[in-house]
Formats: sequence, structure tokens, C-alpha cells
Amino acid sequence: MQELEERIQSEGTVKEGNVLKVDAFLNHQCDVRLFDHMGAAWAQHFAGKKIDKILTIEASGIGIACVAARHFGDVPVVFAKKAQSINLDGDQYVTTVYSFTKQKEFPVIVAKKYLNAGDHVLLIDDFLANGKALHGLINLCEDAGATVTGIGIAVEKGFQGGGDALRAEGYDVDSLAIVDAMDPATGEITFRH
Ligand code: G4P
Ligand code: NA
Ligand code: NA
Repeated sequence: MQELEERIQSEGTVKEGNVLKVDAFLNHQCDVRLFDHMGAAWAQHFAGKKIDKILTIEASGIGIACVAARHFGDVPVVFAKKAQSINLDGDQYVTTVYSFTKQKEFPVIVAKKYLNAGDHVLLIDDFLANGKALHGLINLCEDAGATVTGIGIAVEKGFQGGGDALRAEGYDVDSLAIVDAMDPATGEITFRH
């Protein structure tokens, strides 16, 4: 998606440790017009597919998913919560995700009443790096007996391999910008086309 690539080029900054900062429009300040265009792009990609729910993960995925839902017939958006500690009452699906960025494991939960057998789910997230967070969401869907119809990602860091691994598993991953290389010394960002 050319608009997103242009915003990354003009406003993104490359940090050490393979981190792309896009706080100006995606992760801190939210450009809802851009989010709207992203939602339209995913709706075009997944046109004709049965999608009756969007699942994302807090925090940055929520705003993007909510704006995108307007392009999918206002389907409900459910966000998985990152629990600090597990306080289980049996009414939740729980899985564990390892964050390379934060170098720790954390539980990811969703209430059973909001994810049901037979649901056709579109997963949406802001970033796809190693894919651990998305595999957590996939696990929650499997536990619920829900079907993952597709995966919509704003920025995929292609060089970290999570997206290609998901595609190899058979998932329809639509990343609106795929960064294949980025250099913290020069700030240069190379996109896959
Ligand atoms: P993975 O899920 O793909 O394996 O990635 P990882 O564990 O490393 O990512 C942890 C968090 O960092 C996720 O956000 C992910 O979206 C985000 N992230 C990964 N790489 C980048 C990057 O280069 N730039 C930015 N801005 N974010 C990145 P999160 O834990 O869900 O936090 P939140 O911001 O959504 O609250
Ligand atoms: Na995220
Ligand atoms: Na994030």
C-alpha cells in the first residue's frame, strides 16, 4: 500500500535492535484517515470471504481493528488482553506468548463468550515480526473452534520471517507494507513488492 509506505519513509525512524518507530501515525498518535484507508485495503483483499468477527491484541491493534471493522459490515472487534498474572476462572481461553521485544513470556486471554465455535475470524495487528503474538491469537481461535479466515497486518518486518512462516502454514496474510531491510545507521528502509 503506497500511502503507508510513504508515511513509513517520511515519518518512520529506524532504531537499534530491528525496531521501526512509527509513533507519529500508528503506535502513539493515530491517523484515523490512514487507518480507514488500511481497512479499505484489507476489505478489498478479503472481499468475498466470510468474516464475522475481527480479533486483535491490545494495545496498538485495537484502534486499527475498530476502524477496519467499518469496512467489514461493522463486525464486532474483540481484543485479546495481555494479562499481568493469570487469574483464571475457567471462562477464558488462555495462551502464552513470548515477546522478543520485551524478552519475556506473557499470558494472552479472551473471554470464551466472545470467541465461539464456528466464528470466521479476521486477525488484525499493527506489526508482524516473528509472529509470536499472531500465533497466540491463532491458538485462541483453535481452542474456541473458530476459523481463521485471514490475517491483516499493517507493517510486516519481512526479514524476521514471521509472515512467511504463516504463509507457509497456509494462512492468507495481507501485509500492507513489508519491510525487507532497514538500516539504523543510514535510516534507509527497503520494501518488498
Ligand atoms: P512478534 O509478536 O511478531 O513475535 O513480535 P514481538 O514479540 O517481538 O513484538 C512485541 C511487540 O512489539 C508487539 O507489540 C509488536 O507489535 C511490536 N513490534 C515488533 N516489532 C516492532 C517494530 O519494529 N516497531 C514497532 N513499533 N513495534 C514492533 P505489542 O506487545 O502488541 O504492544 P502494543 O504496542 O500493541 O501494546
Ligand atoms: Na501489536
Ligand atoms: Na505494537
